[in-house]
Amino acid sequence: VGHSLQDLLLARIVDVPDYPKPGVTFKDITPLLADAEAFGALTEALAGLCRRHRADKVVGLEARGFILGAPAAVRAGIGFVPVRKAGKLPGATLGESYALEYGTAEIEIHAGALRPGDRVLVIDDVLATGGTAEASLKLVRRAGAEVAGVAVLMELGFLPGRKRLEAALDGAPLDAL
Ligand code: PRP
Repeated sequence: VGHSLQDLLLARIVDVPDYPKPGVTFKDITPLLADAEAFGALTEALAGLCRRHRADKVVGLEARGFILGAPAAVRAGIGFVPVRKAGKLPGATLGESYALEYGTAEIEIHAGALRPGDRVLVIDDVLATGGTAEASLKLVRRAGAEVAGVAVLMELGFLPGRKRLEAALDGAPLDAL
């Protein structure tokens, strides 16, 4: 990843202190999305990762993974499959629960959305604790598909997300732009 892309992206991500609660700094990507040059460059970079890792499907994680993953999939000429919070998909689903700071979360994928042999790039905005990405990789594998990699805009390096994903990645690449 070139420094100019990183600089362009970083310049359009805004730190919001004490959101959504005191002590947490929220990374607001809406200024990046509103900037055609930065959003375009991000989309090209993610589409480039789809090609480099020979992905034939993008799995985007609700909600910001939809915004980043869908244009990348279109640009790369491959399909897009959403992983949603539980209860939002109309068809038969596979689900995975994972622990949050307080309580648990559950995400789902349509059971028939992926086929054995599909190579999937999972796309999201942020890798924090890695819980969401880890659960999504389990869903991809349970659906019978292969993991081509995980691509995120940002990795919070002070959290052990990369370490947590290691087993679920099983050698597949994790790229943080
Ligand atoms: C955020 C973010 C990632 C996830 C990362 O989503 O967009 O999906 O958390 O955290 P983790 O690595 O600790 O799992 P959020 O749960 O806020 O959902 P939203 O995008 O639908 O608001």
